[in-house]
Amino acid sequence: MAREDVTSFAPDAPGMSLDPYPAFAELREKDPLHRSDLGYWVVSRHEDVRGVLMGRDSFGQGDFVENIRLFYGPDFDVLGQRSYKWLSEVFLMQDPPHHTRVRGMVTGALTAKRVRAMEGRICEIADELIDAMLAAGSADLITDFAYQLPVRVMCDMLGIDPEDPRLPAVIGAIAQSFIVFEARALTDTELATANEQISILQAFFEDLFEQRMAEPRDDLATALVQSGGNEDSLSHDELVTVAIGLFGAGFETTAHMIGNAVLSFARFPDEWAKLVADPSGMAAGAVDETLRFESSLIATYRTALAETQLRGETILPGEKVLTLIGAGNRDPRVFDDPDRFDIARDARGHLSFGGGIHFCAGAELARLEGRVAFEQLARRIPTLKADASNPQWRDGFLFRGLSSLPVSW
Ligand code: HEM
Repeated sequence: MAREDVTSFAPDAPGMSLDPYPAFAELREKDPLHRSDLGYWVVSRHEDVRGVLMGRDSFGQGDFVENIRLFYGPDFDVLGQRSYKWLSEVFLMQDPPHHTRVRGMVTGALTAKRVRAMEGRICEIADELIDAMLAAGSADLITDFAYQLPVRVMCDMLGIDPEDPRLPAVIGAIAQSFIVFEARALTDTELATANEQISILQAFFEDLFEQRMAEPRDDLATALVQSGGNEDSLSHDELVTVAIGLFGAGFETTAHMIGNAVLSFARFPDEWAKLVADPSGMAAGAVDETLRFESSLIATYRTALAETQLRGETILPGEKVLTLIGAGNRDPRVFDDPDRFDIARDARGHLSFGGGIHFCAGAELARLEGRVAFEQLARRIPTLKADASNPQWRDGFLFRGLSSLPVSW
């Protein structure tokens, strides 16, 4: 049971999207192992979030169907929904050995060498986008820069033509189908839309892989198609599932990171001044501090695989635990003055790339994109100002990012 003086956690509680941090602090300080009325546990201290994500014998992904039925009831036809069927096959949602096999293929194709080789191209893309903003005289940082940069990087990596007329629909489909990650029952309309949008994504990536099989190129799609070559190779359907996950994970969270940084700089102008004074020296620290302070993925979840004792309570096998990354990142036991955005601090202990066997496969790429984006913005638009008075947060709880952020200079 939740402590009587602590409000039961709900991801869609009023005020949560505007500012979840007061509710996170209350849980972290008063009820660190919280039992939500929604039927799952919630952990919020840095040590516990990390412990659950790292504890591979005690926690994992468990039974996908049962986990989703927790939100909808025991008769819900989970795998009859195209979007949940897709999610059930995403390797992030799986335990070893299946997870190990697919993750190995992905990290094998997304090598550090391939990522490092992208730096020059990422600079070029950032510069082109900044040129366009400067020429226009005003901009919306989210649509004109924060989304464009990682989308173009992922297009480059996967070998997708950025001028492909289907691309805007594909990008929109990611947000509308990734809602299935949320830890709650979707409305009928949300679920119907997610099912429809996942079909758009499947058709797009099936087509891409067919083209690469017929005409290989030097891109990640070709590397994925060619990976393996033995009985362990990914099937065509698995490839499509992986590509949708990679493409979406590759731009959605990175776009939010860039937007959340510019908003945080607007709220803490001294930090922007520090970055402008030394762009190449401060940009890497700014990336980690943004991830800590305003993470673009503020929670994830696990299922207990074995009976586990935590903070004097027993978590039973099959029970679900929501790990509040955004709360752990502001735990005063780990970070001094945690509600202050400070790009000079050592923020590398943040939890925003997760931990353990599911540690973010794109962390190096995201860091590189962030570093280049912040360096180039500070260098080329040192007078950049964002309107932080009324930030427009997107719907949804897990993925935290803005839908719009007007900027001037
Ligand atoms: C700022 C940007 C990003 C953030 C905050 C982020 C965050 C995360 C987190 C927290 C996880 C673990 C989730 C869990 O354990 O439940 C994860 C996993 C993953 N991320 Fe990222 N990510 C980012 C960018 C990227 C990029 C650029 C890519 C790919 C190009 C990517 C690909 C993946 C994949 C494939 C996984 C699944 C790994 C597995 O299950 O083994 N991410 N990410």
